[in-house]
Amino acid sequence: MQPGEKFYEGKAKILYATEDPTLVIQYFKDDATAFNAQKRGTIIDKGICNNRISSALFAYLEGRGVRTHFVRQLDERSMLVKRLTIVPLEVTIRNITAGGMAKLLGIEEGIALKPPVFEWHYKSDALGDPLINDDHILAMGWASAEELAHIRAESFKINEALKAFFNERQLDLVDFKLEFGRVVTASGKPSAQIVLGDEISPDTMRLWEHGTRRKLDKDRFRRDLGSVEEAYQEVLRRVLGQPLPAPR
Ligand code: C5P
Repeated sequence: MQPGEKFYEGKAKILYATEDPTLVIQYFKDDATAFNAQKRGTIIDKGICNNRISSALFAYLEGRGVRTHFVRQLDERSMLVKRLTIVPLEVTIRNITAGGMAKLLGIEEGIALKPPVFEWHYKSDALGDPLINDDHILAMGWASAEELAHIRAESFKINEALKAFFNERQLDLVDFKLEFGRVVTASGKPSAQIVLGDEISPDTMRLWEHGTRRKLDKDRFRRDLGSVEEAYQEVLRRVLGQPLPAPR
């Protein structure tokens, strides 16, 4: 792969090769999709917000002992990350009912979940990321029992750290999605080391404002709630710890 070559383009991000075969550039676009890409749009400056929010959250988690692919933020839309072979699983942790779980079980949104609910989903757009359990993963050979235990423990550690982080910023962490991958070595082969990859942003988590329960995440786009750009900017402002605007 040539340095600068685009080798992957997803719905919200592009990956570019660097001179180092173990490092890639992750570039954040403004493109937004929902409902398995049936709904498409653009959220102005989303890429800037998500890059800055993800960079801050990865750095925060690293400081809390969570190993991630994050190396450093490069510019307003890109970060340098370790090259991973992504495990084809999506982890969801839910602290409050919403979205997929409310639909699956026919329950209302907004019910506190104690303990939090952990879900595995098979990463497949064509199938709509179906809910699966450990046995599906082991039988398909997507990860070993030890790797599943590691990912599960890391995910709960991340949940506790992020809940505390957002709580200080007057936001409830309702739920979020994580992806993990195996760190690729200089020879191009995946190692045994599994770290947190992808992004952590309002595209991949639900955040509700304390008290008002105002949604500050991609649900504003999915459900046509308006003020989408403002929500991403508001999360960025709170993540960076700048003073909140006076209440209206
Ligand atoms: O839709 P659902 O309720 O299952 O989503 C749970 C969480 O995972 C939400 O925060 C959502 O934004 C995120 N998610 C994601 N990518 C997906 C599916 C869900 O980031 N493919």
